[in-house]
Amino acid sequence: MKPKSTSIYVFSATGNSLTTAKILHHEIEDSRLISIASVLHENEIVEEAERTVFVFPIYFQDVPFPVKMLISKMTWSCESPEIIAVSTSRKVQKTDEVYQRLHAELEKRGTALSDAFSIPMPGNSWANEPDEDELYLNQQEAAVLECLKYFDRKREKDYSSTDLKQTAVSVLNNYRGIISDDSCIGCGRCVQVCPMNNIHLERGKAIVGDNCAVCLACFHWCPKEALWMSKNMADGRRKKYQHPKVSFEDIVKMKTR
Ligand SMILES: Cc1cc2nc3c(=O)[nH]c(=O)nc-3n(C[C@H](O)[C@H](O)[C@H](O)COP(=O)(O)O)c2cc1C
Ligand code: SF4
Ligand code: SF4
Repeated sequence: MKPKSTSIYVFSATGNSLTTAKILHHEIEDSRLISIASVLHENEIVEEAERTVFVFPIYFQDVPFPVKMLISKMTWSCESPEIIAVSTSRKVQKTDEVYQRLHAELEKRGTALSDAFSIPMPGNSWANEPDEDELYLNQQEAAVLECLKYFDRKREKDYSSTDLKQTAVSVLNNYRGIISDDSCIGCGRCVQVCPMNNIHLERGKAIVGDNCAVCLACFHWCPKEALWMSKNMADGRRKKYQHPKVSFEDIVKMKTR
């Protein structure tokens, strides 16, 4: 049988979703990998593939804003496109609500979520401790290959919901109050990795704006302890996390096609 043409769209700040998407891309014949950050500025995206896969991190039980922004510009040219979500998050947990939110965005575009899978990965958020990072990193490839086995399964699940409340990550602002301090050396690495182009340098210091998707790429890739990831200084710091197979250059590259 001819393989289904597949487009894999990925959003990633610290590499968990990027490496997951790369495994899928490697395994799925006739697939192409597209970084969401590289197409965000486009006005319209017409997707021609028979199957679309969205790979993204979960943010506070929601889908990252850039993924929703992308979907709001998308249309599908084939009659009944298959749309699959693959989320990465700290642990496989109650993900139904996340997929219902994604489905709601797809419904606005006249389509629907077909199926969804969750890959447990190290956490890169405020509260996450690196307790089981090694375990999840070691299991990542097997977990992705396992979910691939079910890509063509019969679908029965309905992701519709009438009871979805807006979450903090549904809107763009700097609600966590990400800021830089005096230890900033003006290297511009945060400017380079920010998928929203929300950071600029002023007199050699990084200034963070309000167009923030709270992805924390800036925090995790800053070479100095110059960025605080919260206005609440008590939880403004944690150990930095970067997927061991992903470099700073890999994340920067995600902003260009
Ligand atoms: C703002 C924010 C919120 C998060 N919320 C959750 C969450 O609700 N549940 C969870 O399991 N992980 C949560 N995480 C952890 C990420 O989903 C997880 O580490 C993900 O794999 C990171 O993907 P990336 O490396 O591709 O950016 C959160 C991370 C961030 C930055
Ligand atoms: S990455 Fe850190 S040190 Fe470099 S400009 Fe940004 S805040 Fe300053
Ligand atoms: S300012 Fe930082 S947290 Fe906000 S979108 Fe840019 S890189 Fe992500």
